Amino acid sequence: MPQKFYITTAIHYVNDIPHIGHMYENIVADVIARHRRRMGDDVWFLTGTDEHGQKIERAAAKEGVLPIELADRVVAHYHELWKKLNITHNDFIRTTEARHRVGVLEMIRRIQERIPDDIYLGEHSGWYCQNEETFIPENQVRDRKDDSGHPVEWTTEKNFFFKLSRYGERLLAHYRAHPEFVFPETRLNEVRSFVEQGLKDLSISRTSITWGIPWPGYPDHVVYVWLDALTNYISALGFGSGDDKSFRRWWPTDMHLIGKDIVRFHAVYWPAFLMAAGVELPKRVVCHGWLLRDNQKISKSLGNVVRPYNIIDDFGADPLRYYLLRDIVFGQDQNYSDEAFLSRYNADLANDLGNTLSRAIKMSESYFGGKTPPVPCDDSELLRAAQMLVPEYFTEMDDLAFHRALEVVWKLLVAINGYIVGSEPWKHFKEHGADESLSRVIWNTLEALRIVCVMVAPFMPTAMREALGRIGADPDDIDRQAFEWGGLPNGAPVRVAEPLFPRVDAAVYIGGTMSNPPIETTQAVPPDLTKISIDQFKEIDLRVGEIRAAEKVEKSKKLIKLSVFDGESERTMVAGIATKYTPEELVGRKVVIVANLQPATLMGVESNGMVLAASIGGEPSLIAVDSSVPAGTKVK
Ligand code: ME8
Ligand code: MG
Repeated sequence: MPQKFYITTAIHYVNDIPHIGHMYENIVADVIARHRRRMGDDVWFLTGTDEHGQKIERAAAKEGVLPIELADRVVAHYHELWKKLNITHNDFIRTTEARHRVGVLEMIRRIQERIPDDIYLGEHSGWYCQNEETFIPENQVRDRKDDSGHPVEWTTEKNFFFKLSRYGERLLAHYRAHPEFVFPETRLNEVRSFVEQGLKDLSISRTSITWGIPWPGYPDHVVYVWLDALTNYISALGFGSGDDKSFRRWWPTDMHLIGKDIVRFHAVYWPAFLMAAGVELPKRVVCHGWLLRDNQKISKSLGNVVRPYNIIDDFGADPLRYYLLRDIVFGQDQNYSDEAFLSRYNADLANDLGNTLSRAIKMSESYFGGKTPPVPCDDSELLRAAQMLVPEYFTEMDDLAFHRALEVVWKLLVAINGYIVGSEPWKHFKEHGADESLSRVIWNTLEALRIVCVMVAPFMPTAMREALGRIGADPDDIDRQAFEWGGLPNGAPVRVAEPLFPRVDAAVYIGGTMSNPPIETTQAVPPDLTKISIDQFKEIDLRVGEIRAAEKVEKSKKLIKLSVFDGESERTMVAGIATKYTPEELVGRKVVIVANLQPATLMGVESNGMVLAASIGGEPSLIAVDSSVPAGTKVK
């Protein structure tokens, strides 16, 4: 029996076009949705936009357009972006739609009907933060600003109130009975202590603005934007309409995926509203962390947004999807930078995954006439590695530890590479030709790669379809497949093609098209000329290199000529280290190099770059790098 799985993202404000934080949220939701679908679940994935409230009203006024005009324009961006990022949502709700208004009015009606004084007219004064569309408790206001530095205004309003104060005990009981209700646990603790401090009634209408859903019977009030917005999760399912089939099918949601900044709305207010209306509570509220820039939350209101549209255009969606899920520990905050993206891209995708695929396909091409080998194999170290790693992958996916799920896949890639090196197929082919034993080796390699592709598929759906096709598997396998060993056909055509993830020179790429140029800061103190700026330091391209060959420079006591692999190619460098090191002991060593130094000629040899060493009274001591760090890795 397929299980139903209803997943939602937050609905995003339309005061500006989406940034990397919004992208992250929908990519995570999409990875989860794709994974569940191919495991056989019946998935419904909802996303959308939050279009009412003061924030949008003011943003539109500033531009001199109607709020709905602003919303329409921004929504078009969302649709285009989700398409580019291959987001497979089943529905997109806008809070300005009629179906949504119907749902919100039904929520209010049900609350009023069940417990008449749960909603009452009252007066309220407090510090209102327009950016967060909420009142900020007195003790969190400093210099007319909230915790995150947004301005607050002293506001008095005669509003409708919701008797939130009545729900504290029931909420706490719910957290106790359902510790899985909020993930991760730290967020549950945060919510619990907020409720334990005592809940105040919540104002749920506004008279100061007109851009919203009119309050039933009180046309000078509009529904508070959070009551309005939260209801999207059920209005989209036809709640309150004549046809609530979808609502009965999908609700309660299996997962609300949101950022940690809005956990209180989802894990306190929303369940309280639902309790009051007599509607079942969501099963889980899952919180991700923030994308940061220079350790600050990326946000429109802080003016530090990053929109790596150039990266999506130049690389396609997959590498960005991979990077965000591999580099970020789900639930935690993380700085975004194009450099970090590129170094993952080159190391994990171009090198580990892309090269291994090309290598395996080329061997099938040259030894088996462009086909997968004729003989399968059900007894190899790769089979055992896959059987051990696939269950680990599932555990990590279930725990939402996406970075670890991907780490597990990369372990299989390491095993595959070790297997290729250990079985020396090129030697075997020279000595014995394409015999049965070679057939098994290449088949094992491709089969293990097939399983790699299937595991990576929810993260990089387009590239993995392509890769499966290239190794002779059926690309449609992607959703029906076979984590078990043995799915690769024999004698199926493989396809040699351009690298799936061509290497990119980070320095050249970023120089041309950086999506996050440095934030302009005003210089309060005069620059200290004895120090260099971070930008000056960044001009130095430091990388890990691997010494592939070394020989003494003729007639020189000090100089050694090195051939150093920098991740892309081998280059010649001359280093004054012969007094301490012999050429033999240098080969295979990892060192730190300055990669963008102008060439210099030393004793007739042109040196392209410099090897870093400490100097103890003129005696060199090479800067050591852990041997597991791949050549080409940036040092910063
Ligand atoms: O909060 N990093 O909308 P929103 C990671 N309309 N996630 C981020 C982020 C960042 N730098 N910036 C924003 C709202 N987000 C309300 C939600 S739901 C009924 C109403 C996430 O456009 C943020 O945490 O400010 C939230 O989950 C989503 O993007 C929309 O944020
Ligand atoms: Mg926000």
